[in-house]
Amino acid sequence: MAMLQTKLLSCVLFILVVLQYSCPATSQEVEDESEFNYSQQSERGPARWGEIHPEWRACSNGTMQSPIDISNERVHIVSHLGKLKRSYKPANATLRNRGHDMMLSWEGKEAGAIEIDGTEYALRQCHWHSPSEHTINGRRFDLEAHLVHQTADGKIAVVGLLYKIGRPDPFLASLEDDLAAITDTTQGERDVGVMDPKGIKFGSRKYYRYIGSLTVPPCTENVVWSFVTKVRTVTREQVRLLRVAVHDNYDTNARPVQSLNHRSIQLFKPDDEEKN
Ligand SMILES: *[C@@H]1O[C@H](CO)[C@@H](O)[C@H](O)[C@H]1NC(C)=O
Ligand SMILES: *[C@@H]1O[C@H](CO)[C@@H](O)[C@H](O)[C@H]1NC(C)=O
Ligand SMILES: *[C@@H]1O[C@H](CO)[C@@H](O)[C@H](O)[C@H]1NC(C)=O
Repeated sequence: MAMLQTKLLSCVLFILVVLQYSCPATSQEVEDESEFNYSQQSERGPARWGEIHPEWRACSNGTMQSPIDISNERVHIVSHLGKLKRSYKPANATLRNRGHDMMLSWEGKEAGAIEIDGTEYALRQCHWHSPSEHTINGRRFDLEAHLVHQTADGKIAVVGLLYKIGRPDPFLASLEDDLAAITDTTQGERDVGVMDPKGIKFGSRKYYRYIGSLTVPPCTENVVWSFVTKVRTVTREQVRLLRVAVHDNYDTNARPVQSLNHRSIQLFKPDDEEKN
């Protein structure tokens, strides 16, 4: 009898072991493994990002964090910043699901650069937040694009663009099939061929400038922000497609607005803007 029980037990154990190895835990799909998320009350939410890893400390303790509210009262109009000098070029790109957003990235320096104060920052990637992370006089918009640029020695410059619901955005329209394709698979990445970053229209030469941070961990500071003042349009369906592709069961991926802490915001207005 004892013998039978032992045999039965080892048989059950064997089955359990086989089950464990043959059925990968379904609760651990790639998209749920993000180390941080946007649940306000959760221990992985924006208020706690700085406690998750020592390298993420700036998220809690930084003094020049992004996003911010760009309020008229804090903005100084200047004409000396100069135009945003872009030399973007078509290059092969990859669409990647980062678990909290969709990112379109270009290799190395192939997609060209932006020049700010004589420094060249190569365009590395573009990603989207919805609703917008930055607000203007307290108003939030439907979508925000971040074009992330970096120098060889690691200095970061981000160009921010705002969108409200309206006509389709042509650049996102050119990505729709790829977004839909990545939504239908569990693969996190897709080669999308040649994408021309010039297709991401700015629509105005006016922009806000302030010094802030990355809006996702590690919340690295001293990021040079250029925020185009013109609000462009996007369809509800395009915003939805970007969110659904992430598979994180969230409707939003916007970090709350951070304290300005005496930082100044400049608004660059070219002297000849009226002639445009
Ligand atoms: C966010 O992270 C917390 C803590 O791990 C978790 O409880 C919560 O379910 C996560 N939210 C989502 C929707 O993934
Ligand atoms: C923030 O700074 C304070 C004071 O230096 C420190 O005690 C605290 O541990 C820091 N918080 C995090 C999350 O690192
Ligand atoms: C993109 O990649 C393809 C295949 O690797 C290559 O043939 C093509 O020259 C690349 N195009 C550009 C603009 O880099």
